[in-house]
Formats: sequence, structure tokens, C-alpha cells
Amino acid sequence: MSGLRHPHLLSLRHPRGETSIVVGAGALEPGLTAPGEWLGEWLGARTLFVLTTPRVRRLHGSRLRPLLERGATAEILEVEEGEAAKRLDVAGELWDRMLEAGGKRDSRLLTFGGGSVGDLGGFVAGCFLRGIEYVQLPTTLLAQVDASLGGKTAVDRPGAKNCVGLFHHPAGVISDTELLSTLPREEIRAGLAEVVKMAALLDPDLLARVERDLDALLAGDAIALAPVVAASARAKIGVVEEDPEEADRRRLLNFGHTMGHALEAAAGFGGLRHGEAVAYGMLFALRLARDRGLAAELAPRLVRLLGRFELPPLPPSLHREELVALVGRDKKARESGLAWVLPAKLGEGVIVHDIPMAQVEAEIAPFLASPFAVK
Ligand code: GLY
Repeated sequence: MSGLRHPHLLSLRHPRGETSIVVGAGALEPGLTAPGEWLGEWLGARTLFVLTTPRVRRLHGSRLRPLLERGATAEILEVEEGEAAKRLDVAGELWDRMLEAGGKRDSRLLTFGGGSVGDLGGFVAGCFLRGIEYVQLPTTLLAQVDASLGGKTAVDRPGAKNCVGLFHHPAGVISDTELLSTLPREEIRAGLAEVVKMAALLDPDLLARVERDLDALLAGDAIALAPVVAASARAKIGVVEEDPEEADRRRLLNFGHTMGHALEAAAGFGGLRHGEAVAYGMLFALRLARDRGLAAELAPRLVRLLGRFELPPLPPSLHREELVALVGRDKKARESGLAWVLPAKLGEGVIVHDIPMAQVEAEIAPFLASPFAVK
């Protein structure tokens, strides 16, 4: 438990307050003083709703027992795994159950699961009685390094992911990297893609650490993962504190996401994991960066690192025309036009608006044929 002795304690200041963040191997261990006490005080003797999935409850539910015993009542709300739960009708059923269980304005909600549970739970908490406090206990790497932080919440509509939601920051985030040991390697890899995204544009030391420790990280080593989760959280906190509602600089966190979303949608959700699509999306963005003379030294380094991820190949069914249409529809396409996030050099990114669609189109066929060939 050496990671336990040095949990990383961070905080994110946002327009409505502050999120306390604890990262460590064993951070949720029953009896642990600092985070455990803090959570206990936050809960007090209130009604607690816990949003989770049957699988997470079965694997890790025992870790919450000491906490559940502290609240007046604990109501466990289970939803199905993954994106399928992020629906307005599911949120509606949860609100009904919370009302029936006597939920009040000062009741509390815990999200205990991956990014989808966090997105849905944040949305449910943000709207219930005009907003109740919640804490995120993320159980996947992707949720620990990115999705649980920064207050984005959402549900999906048919064909449009994350299109209804609000900014509602959690009161706290506790990321216990020991929970990651039950994840399949592909899930860890998908979360590491988001780490690489932040490391490349915001934290050169983190990039070097991922390069050095990649094998242990991919194996789900809780002690190796703890400083990586903490550094990613720190990088994200810096950006979100400067630009909480994504007017500008927070868009750096969308590196790899413009083509990534298109690949994810074209592959049929579930065909590629979000993080895998983002990894390919970063490779595509490197082509656009190269065309502008950017990231000349960083590009081969990222290509090498992502090559070690052993990504699944791009599905052969992907077509240029469909990707072009999907890129145009990307939710980051604002009234002001499509914004591409490109690496400028190590630790620095730029947001560019003037890449002609014809240039994007011209890069797609060679990218699909040979995604790693960024020369
Ligand atoms: N995942 C990107 C953001 O939180 O802004």
C-alpha cells in the first residue's frame, strides 16, 4: 500500500466553488483517514443515492460499505453499463426513484462507475431539485484521468452523443487506482490515449513517464498508475480553471477528438472504444499539423508511442465520404466553424479554424490506408 501513504490531494476551483480531488492506490480503502473522513463529513447523516452498475457493485461494492453505514439511508440505483444508460428516460426513472425515496435538496449522490455513469449521474444530480451535490468515484482510467473532472455532464439523443447536459461540478472526486486492476487491457489503453492527449499538449514530464512506464501502466499496475492519474488531473485542472466552460483554451482537451468522434460514429458506437478513436484522431491531427510545419519533433515521438499501444486496426468499412460528413457535423463545429486542435510542439497546442475542408478530405484516404505513416 505504498501509494496509500502518499495520496495526491488536489483541488479544482470553478465558478461555483471547489472540487476536492484525491488520487491514490487504495484511496477508497475502508478506514483510510483523509479521504474517508472527508467523504464521511460531506455525507453527514443525509440520504445518499449511489449510481452504479451491477458489475461495478459486484466487483467493488464492498469498498463503499463503511461509507454507506454512515448515511441515514443509502439507496443504490443501478443502470446498465456504458453509453446505453445515458438516456433522458433513464434519468427520468432515476429522478422518480429519488423522489419516492424522499430525496431532498441537501441529499447527496455518488457516482460509482466509468465515464457513462459519471456523465449520467452528474446530469441527474445537476437537475434534481435544481441541483444537489455529488461526488464522483470513477472506476475506469478514462473516467479517472478526464471524464470525472471539470463538471461536464450529459445524456445522448439518437445519433448525437452528449448533446443534452449542463456544467455541474462534483464536490469531490476520489480516484482509487486499485479499482483499475479489474479492467481489461483494452480499457486501460483507451484511458491512456486521453493521458497522451493531455501530456503531449500540456505536460512534457508526463509524456516521458508514460513512455517509460507504458508496460506497467498497460498491465494496470495501481502504483504506477497513481502518479499518471494525478498528473493528468493536474494538467486538466490547469486548463479548466482558466476556461471552465470551454470558451477557448479548454478546447485543447479535444486534441484527437474531431476525427476521433467521426471514427467512433462511423465504426458504429462500440466498434472502436472512445479512447482508441481518439488515439487514431491524434494521428490524423498530426498530419494536419505536419502540413502547417508544426510538431516536427513531437510527431514521430507520438507515432512511436501510440504504435506501442497495439491499437485494433481501423475497421475496413470506414469510408472517406462518411468521415467527411461526420467531421462536418462534429459538435465542436460551432457557428464560427470547425476548430482543429493541433500540437504546435511538445507541451503546446493550438486551435486553428482555417483548415480548408478540401485539405481534410485529401488527408483521409492516405490516413485510412496507413494511419501511422505521418512523415
Ligand atoms: N473531456 C474534455 C473536457 O472535459 O473538456
